[in-house]
Amino acid sequence: MPNVVFVHPDGAREELEIAEGTSVMQGATAQGIDGIVAECGGNCMCATCHVYVEPSQLASLPAMSEEEDALLNGTASERKPNSRLTCQLPVTAALDGLVVSLPERQV
Ligand code: FES
Repeated sequence: MPNVVFVHPDGAREELEIAEGTSVMQGATAQGIDGIVAECGGNCMCATCHVYVEPSQLASLPAMSEEEDALLNGTASERKPNSRLTCQLPVTAALDGLVVSLPERQV
């Protein structure tokens, strides 16, 4: 299974194996990652699954939809050029080794 590394605001790192075909958000919430809230359950409606993607890995992600782009304007923590919503990131073998940083706040 692909591995995804979550970096907490204090620098602590947690590495999870997440099954292909699920989303990065689903993997994080199922395995209890503190810092991914996912209030809407992955319907691209809440922006509480926000992360900052390692910039060098941005190009390996699927393109951002208009809905995700609009929602990212309402995140609790600052939107940055490498902001993404983890519910919109399907896990594939190509994402193995993805590193995402958790924002200070989700709500
Ligand atoms: S879980 Fe709500 S937008 Fe991602």
